[in-house]
Amino acid sequence: MNALINDIEVIKTKTTKINDVDFDHLSFGKTFSDHMLECDYKDGKWQAPKVVPYAPITLDPSAKIFHYGQSVFEGMKAYKDEDDNVLLFRPLDNFKRLNISSKRLAIPELPEAYFMEGLKALLKVDSDWIPKKDGSSLYIRPFVFATGKGFHASPADEYKFIICTAPSGAYFAGKVKVLIEEKYSRSANGGVGFAKAGGNYAGQFYPTQLAIEKGYQQVIWTDDNTHEYIEEAGAMNIFVRINNTLITGPTSDRILDGITRKSIIELAKTEGINVEVRKISVSEVVEAAKNGSLKEMFGAGTAAVISPIAGFGYKDEDFDLPELENTYASSLKKRITDIQTNKVEDPFGWRYNV
Ligand SMILES: Cc1ncc(COP(=O)(O)O)c(C=O)c1O
Repeated sequence: MNALINDIEVIKTKTTKINDVDFDHLSFGKTFSDHMLECDYKDGKWQAPKVVPYAPITLDPSAKIFHYGQSVFEGMKAYKDEDDNVLLFRPLDNFKRLNISSKRLAIPELPEAYFMEGLKALLKVDSDWIPKKDGSSLYIRPFVFATGKGFHASPADEYKFIICTAPSGAYFAGKVKVLIEEKYSRSANGGVGFAKAGGNYAGQFYPTQLAIEKGYQQVIWTDDNTHEYIEEAGAMNIFVRINNTLITGPTSDRILDGITRKSIIELAKTEGINVEVRKISVSEVVEAAKNGSLKEMFGAGTAAVISPIAGFGYKDEDFDLPELENTYASSLKKRITDIQTNKVEDPFGWRYNV
């Protein structure tokens, strides 16, 4: 008989890979834990999820994911505190956002219990895979995609929901140099920019390759209409500090409603930082860089947490940011990771004990 955890059937692997992993030198998202959660949508409903050994899956060549890109995903992290409690950060927000993304791509929405109980069962089975080293975590990748067959350009009738996990170290090695995009767009009004749809990322790769060839690591996307307003980076929302005001753009149907972003806004306010959520024009940032009032720029997202920006390129000109001693980026990063890893009180109720 297979075990049941939280009412989820668990089929355990016979051979663990954990002894092959060097937990002191983890890269990001390249090593995968022993198990995954798997759940199929067929006959008009989501079937009971199961925890199964991590393994390749077989799909029909006509599966609609390959042709019409019906695919959405999430990114989350699990941490272990000193007492080996397994902790998540605002997981219900990821669940809700996955369904928001699914709805936009005409993918059937998941029941909350399948996501949450399935995730908890998976983390219990693979709890030894959660790194404890500072800066490391178990990266969690829930995703849903169309397995239904056929070349008709219409929504599939079958889908698969999988959660797999990867013990991971830092996403970026150090500060990043970014290019403010003037030509390409990642999203448009009425489009799918607010969804975590796989295709949104595919569309970014080519312009990002061009930026990398010019010596930058990331693109800062601007609005598709005028390219005058800063929107977000590859997998991060963007914050700009001008003098002592921290500014981030409002979310819209072009921008992902980042969980790190909204947490940073709340944290910064409680630290007494003046926060403005408003459109940020490229000319304002360039002007601030020229007159010295631009103090910091950083990206915020689950993978990188807070990633300081060293400088940016715009219209063939490079602008460096100052090297400050005490940055908002470092104090906010410490505050959020201390909450995530149970090093400090969590007055917001964001931490979730598995
Ligand atoms: C396009 C985009 N923007 C922003 C974010 C940051 O969102 P979160 O803080 O919820 O990870 C992500 C990552 O999920 C992303 O892919």
